[in-house]
Amino acid sequence: MNFDSIASVYDDTRVYDEDCFNAVLDFITARFPPSSYRKLFEPGIGTGRIAIPFAARGYDVTGVDISDEMLNVLSGKLRKNPVPRVTFQKADATHLPFADGVFDIAVAVHVLHLIRDWKKAMEEVFRVLRPDGPIVFLYTGTGSEIPDIKVRYRELCAERGYSASHIGMKTAAELDDYVTGIGRRIERLQDRWRWKIRLGIDKTLAHMKSHYYSFTNLAPEDVHLQVLKTIEHELTERYGNLDVEVDVSIQINLALVLPARG
Ligand SMILES: C[S@@+](CC[C@H](N)C(=O)[O-])C[C@H]1O[C@@H](n2cnc3c(N)ncnc32)[C@H](O)[C@@H]1O
Repeated sequence: MNFDSIASVYDDTRVYDEDCFNAVLDFITARFPPSSYRKLFEPGIGTGRIAIPFAARGYDVTGVDISDEMLNVLSGKLRKNPVPRVTFQKADATHLPFADGVFDIAVAVHVLHLIRDWKKAMEEVFRVLRPDGPIVFLYTGTGSEIPDIKVRYRELCAERGYSASHIGMKTAAELDDYVTGIGRRIERLQDRWRWKIRLGIDKTLAHMKSHYYSFTNLAPEDVHLQVLKTIEHELTERYGNLDVEVDVSIQINLALVLPARG
């Protein structure tokens, strides 16, 4: 998926709870303090939604991204509120323009599912990291989609012959296998940072219709529209109308890729 078309709405459609996110940052900065892991690399830095808060915690953040528009949004933010510790350039995560071992830690957020050769991207990230450098995978949840609707969307695409699965890494198990295969270990922290929000069904459907989420780009447009029509019909039957809000539980999870135990 090309993020250029949604760059201007990206941050508004990917929100996280500030307290939860700060608690996650507290955890990461305690475990990997900037005093020992100052140079942080983020593949797929996007609008800097994650990078800027890390920089505020004392890391020197360098990011790459292939989307001009996402990087333009990041430039705009930095112009408005200069953050000295964030630098970025346009580059593909599978071909990084950096020397070996120049970073201390990497943080990757919602990116490997988008990269067909995600193992090459992992190799590149390991190449530019110091040998004992960790990779922190952070999963924030989008915060603006209703999980039931997403599951139903995928089911209906599958019924029409489209798997609606991403071109890159598809499951957590794939990452686990890869990490074990290269002799490293993975530590997962799940169900620790949670929050609840109320989301409008009509707003969620409108966001999906506009392709704000990458999974809505995996079937052809006519299938996408048919599937949304079916979902709209089902939800109208269930709730009477679509002007309804539902409680959604969201969590931030972490997967830490670490050197093998010495
Ligand atoms: C879902 S966004 C996540 C952005 C940011 N990490 C965040 O969580 O807010 C995914 C980003 O990865 C970028 N991206 C996709 N494939 C990439 C690649 N091969 N190399 C670098 N960036 C890539 C996209 O352009 C997009 O900005």
